[in-house]
Amino acid sequence: MKGIKHMTRQQINDKANDLLSKLTLPEKVAQIMQLSYAHMDEKERRMWIERGIGSLLHVMGSDAQRFQDMTLETKHKIPLIFGIDCVRGHAMNPKATVFPCCLGMASSFNTELVERACEIAAREVTEDALHMVFSPVLCLGRDTRWGRVDETFGEDPYLSGELGAAMVKGYQGNGEMRKDTGVIACAKHYLAHGESMGGRDSYDVVLTHRKILEVFAPPYKKVVDAGCKSIMTAYQTIDGLPCTANKWLLKDLLRDEMGFEGFVITDWDNTGRLVWQQFASPDMRHAAKTAIEAGNDMIMSTPDFYEAAISMVENGELDESVVDESVLRVLKVKLEMDLFGEKRSQFHNIKNPSMACEEHLKINEELTNQTVVMLENKNNTLPLSKDIRKIAVIGPNADCISSQYGDWTFYTHPLPDFTKVPETVNITIWDGIKSIAEKSNIKAELTKWDGPVSVYYRGEAPDPNDIQSLHRAADTSDIKNANQNLPDINKILKNCEGADVVIAVIGDDPTLNGEERDRANLDLPEAQQKMLEAVKEAGHKLIIVGITGKPLTVKWAKENADAMLWTFCPGAYGGSAVAGVLFGEKNPSARLPISFPLHVGQLPVYYNQLPGWHGGKYIDLPKESLYTFGYGLSYSEFEYTGLECPGRIKAESTEDINISVTVTNKSNMDGTTVAQLYFRDMVSTISTPVKQFKGFKRVFLKAGESRKISMTLPMAELAIIDHNLQRIIEKGTFNLIVGDGKYLEKEFTVV
Ligand code: BGC
Repeated sequence: MKGIKHMTRQQINDKANDLLSKLTLPEKVAQIMQLSYAHMDEKERRMWIERGIGSLLHVMGSDAQRFQDMTLETKHKIPLIFGIDCVRGHAMNPKATVFPCCLGMASSFNTELVERACEIAAREVTEDALHMVFSPVLCLGRDTRWGRVDETFGEDPYLSGELGAAMVKGYQGNGEMRKDTGVIACAKHYLAHGESMGGRDSYDVVLTHRKILEVFAPPYKKVVDAGCKSIMTAYQTIDGLPCTANKWLLKDLLRDEMGFEGFVITDWDNTGRLVWQQFASPDMRHAAKTAIEAGNDMIMSTPDFYEAAISMVENGELDESVVDESVLRVLKVKLEMDLFGEKRSQFHNIKNPSMACEEHLKINEELTNQTVVMLENKNNTLPLSKDIRKIAVIGPNADCISSQYGDWTFYTHPLPDFTKVPETVNITIWDGIKSIAEKSNIKAELTKWDGPVSVYYRGEAPDPNDIQSLHRAADTSDIKNANQNLPDINKILKNCEGADVVIAVIGDDPTLNGEERDRANLDLPEAQQKMLEAVKEAGHKLIIVGITGKPLTVKWAKENADAMLWTFCPGAYGGSAVAGVLFGEKNPSARLPISFPLHVGQLPVYYNQLPGWHGGKYIDLPKESLYTFGYGLSYSEFEYTGLECPGRIKAESTEDINISVTVTNKSNMDGTTVAQLYFRDMVSTISTPVKQFKGFKRVFLKAGESRKISMTLPMAELAIIDHNLQRIIEKGTFNLIVGDGKYLEKEFTVV
């Protein structure tokens, strides 16, 4: 494949307008629809191709290309754009490279590797004849009861924007669309999808325009600036108005203010939901008009939109020019991607497939190694000495690859006909420990968990290797029926006898995360808690490894574990990454992108809250979270000294603020510190957070090495959104806070 022909903007406009002028009204309406291949039979699919549908989702490989080839037989030969949920690599394809979940990736604080991962994902997606990935997810994980926290980059808007922009560059290319292997990114869910009241998925979000501009829009602005070609409208309402119907959000803010030029796609049947779920439109005809007039350009998974939109235009209730605008946007992206050219038949031309090739797996392994957060290490319990004689490995996630994967993979979203877990590289925690133990002549004993994978299911315990059994468990999960199959604790204790250390691998699993899987209780399942307590009571040295899709309330674990590691759905290499840290072959370098609550009643506990709580704590609980954003231990000890920044800065300045600090690795082990930069705006006309994260840098230092590093703080980051919704920089004092665990502070003044 020779590559994309980059057309000029003018050529793209002319060609798109020319095509538009040839389309009938029904062809235009079909062009702005995306339907699920998996939800249609062959007859329906062909009917939609004849109608000139613009896009299909959830199809891949030869099936996708077969339909793409059919478009060459249609009147206008307009290519299809194929969309896929590739949120952590091309994870719905069991043969592809599946990266850690986004919360896991975010723990690395490594924009370069995340960008690289998405470049790989794009290449693999392209080899499946697809062009559009529903990623990055820019929702913030601030109410961790929400079921989709694992899809986010955590709680902070700055980190979310930086990693989101890195992903967009990885998928599309930095600047122009990458030749051959570029796919378009689709940032979602626009906007504030994670903010639903009570952590309830896609529910009521209460937000002011000012808060939107301050917290939730900035990550989108960053992906728009990175050239993101599409954006997905969120399901929920904001202040009662469904996002699908929100002109201010989709047009004024996104297009006029942020300068977005791609197309907006709804989430799954958002248009239908206006009628059957949100009761905001009386029927599909009005819903179609509302959705398209509000600024949605492509309608996902609402087949009835077709008749409805046509009828609205024919009756003069919807202006055809509104439909035209959306068609033009979709066509322009197709032209820009060269879908009319060589890219259209890319699948036929693949000579050397790279799906899960060695190079891709290596990057995955490297990234996964950077996602293990060390939360506790009392009395230097870790790294484990290779002189120990016996290790007992217990707990439901010790040898459970489906928990390691988590949501939005082929485990949870299998395409039709897919049932068995593929035989690829899959290293469970047990595999990882065993492999190192064997090399070092340590006896490692795995005690199979004979309780449920989690306790929130009823009936048969799911077999983590059987996709269908996992689905059955998820469909019937029910907290009322919890604890039916408590593990045999005596058996567990027996196997722990004589062990120098017990490694308990605990956490959640795919039945406890995902869409419509919100939780009101974030405790460890009771059976797991009981197991931990019994092991501790028996006097064992206890190392806890948490594998979850979100932070859990693990106060007991914090207080009682001799050491604790945590990793958010790390995927295939989770086992080697964790074992590497346990035995000191790797020095942990991940930090938390999200805070852990002490108790669910404390939520929200995100670090960047406003000051001013009378009393500053609950009468029955402290204010502090259990672990806070940015926290994570290392085997090395880092010291930050000599923080420097200009003392006075002109408010009108547009230049970045240059900051420097000296970092020293005071230990005898090479390691990586994540230098974190925060500031506090000391006095402003609106209340601002106690601390705002505004920069980070991974710094590798050899044992004993010292280095002066520089960081920059863009002037624009000092701005507040005032009560007239203006972004302004106010004069006054700012407190700069830089470090990793321990922080230096220095004031500067904006004059
Ligand atoms: C989810 C989206 C996803 C879409 C297509 C929706 O239910 O909210 O995140 O991209 O389905 O699978």
